[in-house]
Amino acid sequence: MNVLVLHGPNLNLLGERQPEIYGRLTLAELDERIREKARSLGLEVRIFQSNHEGALIDRIHEERRWMDALVINAGAYTHTSWAIRDAIAAVAVRAIEVHLSDIHAREAWRRESRIADVCEAQIVGKGAGSYLEALERLAAGFGNSL
Ligand code: DQA
Repeated sequence: MNVLVLHGPNLNLLGERQPEIYGRLTLAELDERIREKARSLGLEVRIFQSNHEGALIDRIHEERRWMDALVINAGAYTHTSWAIRDAIAAVAVRAIEVHLSDIHAREAWRRESRIADVCEAQIVGKGAGSYLEALERLAAGFGNSL
């Protein structure tokens, strides 16, 4: 099973960005944990980070024939981007929305997700564990559907 993992804006600064909220793990360290988990579950992963909405959409399009599923932390685009929502809908793959922090326990504007209705689950507030749990869910679901 092929999984595209997308990190949105400002996640390149993980480790130094508001560590009390997002933790001390750098993006490279987070990606390493994602790769380890994927290996242990027998998943193929490609990982991409961008601060640009269009670049995230381009990558969803480019990987549409390769990927079986998408794990996406769209950062603040989560709360604003109908365009990313439509890109996920357009490629019709399984998708899971993840967030390091608990978006429901912060400012009111973070509670709204534009992409939630095209994702089968939303996993929040577990730091790197949010991504790892998403991979586990996908692997379990994939197994069940065989
Ligand atoms: C985030 C939560 C968003 O509200 C925020 O804009 C981010 C990170 C998270 O992982 O907790 O950039 O998606």
